[in-house]
Amino acid sequence: MLEGKRILLGVSGSIAAYKAVELLRELIRRGAEVRCAMTGGAGRFVAPLTFQTLSRKPVLTDLYAQEEGGQIAHIAAAEGADLLVVAPATANTLARFAHGLADDFLTNLYLATRCPVLVAPAMDAEMWRHAATQANVATLRQRGVHFVGPASGELASGLTGPGRLAEPAEIAAAVEAILGRARDLAGRYLLMTAGPTYEPLDPVRFVGNRSSGRMGFALAEAAAARGARVTLVSGPTHLAPPAGVECVRVETTQEMYEAVLARAAEADAVIKAAAPADYRPSTVAPAKIKKGREVLSMELTPTPDILGELGRRKGAAVLVGFAAETEDLVANAREKLRKKNLDLVVANEVGAQGAGFGTDTNRVTLIGADGDAESLPLLSKQEVAHRVLDRVARLLAARPARP
Ligand SMILES: Cc1cc2nc3c(=O)[nH]c(=O)nc-3n(C[C@H](O)[C@H](O)[C@H](O)COP(=O)(O)O)c2cc1C
Repeated sequence: MLEGKRILLGVSGSIAAYKAVELLRELIRRGAEVRCAMTGGAGRFVAPLTFQTLSRKPVLTDLYAQEEGGQIAHIAAAEGADLLVVAPATANTLARFAHGLADDFLTNLYLATRCPVLVAPAMDAEMWRHAATQANVATLRQRGVHFVGPASGELASGLTGPGRLAEPAEIAAAVEAILGRARDLAGRYLLMTAGPTYEPLDPVRFVGNRSSGRMGFALAEAAAARGARVTLVSGPTHLAPPAGVECVRVETTQEMYEAVLARAAEADAVIKAAAPADYRPSTVAPAKIKKGREVLSMELTPTPDILGELGRRKGAAVLVGFAAETEDLVANAREKLRKKNLDLVVANEVGAQGAGFGTDTNRVTLIGADGDAESLPLLSKQEVAHRVLDRVARLLAARPARP
């Protein structure tokens, strides 16, 4: 429920603007106090009077209008808001947010507010798929903006594809989830891992894997946003460490093992999203291996099992592992959970469309120690991170915080 929450509802110029009316009613039904801001484009689809009447407050449209008491309206509206939700968000408004433009009331409000921002895009499928739109979405996600939708289905253009505004009830549920999460990990220390490892073969070559590190970085960023102190032990990636997160860079599984084990006893939860190599070349050639031999074979030696060791030493910390599987997803993940003494396993099918290594999205199944399997739809890695942290927060709530 949203009792006592102050929500700003931004509406931009999409054909789906009429659905924002239903969203406004839904938010009010759930107890929120809602103030609406509309772009000029939105006003071409639905009259501000509709939003004004239902919210019982003047709609914010004119950047230069005089607010009572001489306040600057967009600054006053931004202050004290719990959440800005923009639904529908047009390609144009996403681009303006991503590039920091401030040419109307809504974009000034977006820049001025420090509250969480949730965006529900709606547009034609080709506009959504366009590289410019996708780059803007990636920029906003990286800055911590939450997304809900777009859904796939029939569009106003008559075509079918991604671009439909998420249903008002789904957007309202996302609002509740974000506000419920606000600072629920404050006072907790979370240790996480991300990325691949590189196991050297000679001074210039290594054995590695396709993990990009995005899932682990998304988890670290989300946990920090929810108030946790976070250490992220990362293998080689091109990703910048999220703000406020201590990032320890390592290269091999052995280095990751040492970095994690040195900190694990202090942690309230350990989340292992990395894909460390299970084997390393048995010998590392001191000089670059020359070509010329007909067949060159490589002997491999097992690396230390980080998760297995954490499971063996397990104290009060919540232990979460990832299981990347190509077959028998749930059965294999349950087996991993049991064998490694985990509290939660996040299973994903590598190779499924939009899921796994190198993508911005993921489709995972969460399996708890009771064996219960919760399959999530295709979500952004940021949203998957929050769903995993929702479970971690629940497990932690049952355990006392450390002094
Ligand atoms: C009938 C019609 C429907 C439109 N629907 C959308 C839409 O769903 N999504 C979108 O991004 N743009 C849509 N547009 C284009 C936007 O209205 C246009 O890009 C405008 O500049 C958006 O401005 P705003 O973001 O300030 O509201 C539509 C335009 C028309 C004429």
